Amino acid sequence: MEELVLVKVAEEYASQIADYRQEMLDMGSSMDGTGSLKVMENPYDYIAKCRDYEKKETLPEGRVIATQFLLIRRSDNKIVGMIQVRHHFNEYLEKYSGHIGYSVRPSERKKGYAKTMLKMALPFCNSIGLDKVLITCDEDNEGSERTIRANGGEFESIIFEPNEGINLKRFWVKTDQAN
Ligand SMILES: CC(C)(COP(=O)(O)OP(=O)(O)OC[C@H]1O[C@@H](n2cnc3c(N)ncnc32)[C@H](O)[C@@H]1OP(=O)(O)O)[C@@H](O)C(=O)NCCC(=O)NCCS
Repeated sequence: MEELVLVKVAEEYASQIADYRQEMLDMGSSMDGTGSLKVMENPYDYIAKCRDYEKKETLPEGRVIATQFLLIRRSDNKIVGMIQVRHHFNEYLEKYSGHIGYSVRPSERKKGYAKTMLKMALPFCNSIGLDKVLITCDEDNEGSERTIRANGGEFESIIFEPNEGINLKRFWVKTDQAN
């Protein structure tokens, strides 16, 4: 696979963030693991918002500290995926959304990027004290389920999410994988 790097969201990627967002909107894709990107047209505002989530002083009420990463393909400096790590749970995250959300841009799917991106995020999760992370997916999201299972995800249970009216599968992934 081509060389990939996982970087924290930053101003130098502003135009690529806008490009990623546009492709997701054009394709009608769900924007999991991107925080509020869907509703934020200006990438600089989005980056500032991500920063607000990084420390208690600026964290919006009821939210938890979160770190936003971009998966960059070195050869063309393109964002191929995005992944968000939530450092703690609130009531909703503990049941339904878990510690991690992610997406891969539609034009770059089925190339193994989601599997690699999740693998690359696990050491960070471990470094912030999470020995294992909860990851959930729609019960019919085969691509996401395979991504989680490829990273050692252990199925726990299915839970009904009432707002969307969908069943979610809950998985736990250990973060100290030495491979
Ligand atoms: C789910 C998603 C992240 C997968 O990204 P991806 O880069 O295509 O995934 P990968 O290429 O790493 O593939 C992972 C596995 O899923 C399989 N897969 C990927 N997309 C699939 C699909 N649409 N249907 C069935 N299997 C699929 C791959 O074949 C691979 O399986 P394998 O390891 O058994 O060969 C991507 O489709 C996406 O961004 N979807 C919208 C957002 C989303 O659903 N995020 C997850 C929220 S829980």
